[in-house]
Amino acid sequence: MIGCEEAVIEHCIAVAELALEIAMTKDDVDEELVFTGAMLHDIGRARTHGVEHGFLGGEIARALGLDDKLVRIIQRHVGAGLTAKEAEQLGLPVAEDFMPETMEEKIVTYADCLIEGTRRTGIEHALAEFKAKLGESHPAVERLKKLHRELTGEPV
Ligand SMILES: [Fe+2]
Repeated sequence: MIGCEEAVIEHCIAVAELALEIAMTKDDVDEELVFTGAMLHDIGRARTHGVEHGFLGGEIARALGLDDKLVRIIQRHVGAGLTAKEAEQLGLPVAEDFMPETMEEKIVTYADCLIEGTRRTGIEHALAEFKAKLGESHPAVERLKKLHRELTGEPV
């Protein structure tokens, strides 16, 4: 099968809308990059819904000749980012650090955490999901809180 399922495309549109809204509240953020990156962030789901969809999506984007900035947004959007150790434990093809670093990468990652399907949830819901899936004390929980604080300026 070629391409992403309709539900994935709709999810990407919802993430892109939220990501763009967040980007517009910031100075010095490439809004077009945020929007395009968010639209493409789940391109890897054309191949798999596994955790490796981020890495594979980046490889698809690279093969399509897309900008490295987009490749990095796609590869770093999974969860609230993955450390090299987590990438290794999860069996990704390369044990690299996939942590969002730029504002554009952080905004897409964060917006994706706040969208369930096409529905906007909220930080408390997203944190509860992380805890249910990964465990209360998984470092990704703190990582998501940090992203929230950095991007909203609000405590959590
Ligand atoms: Fe994803």
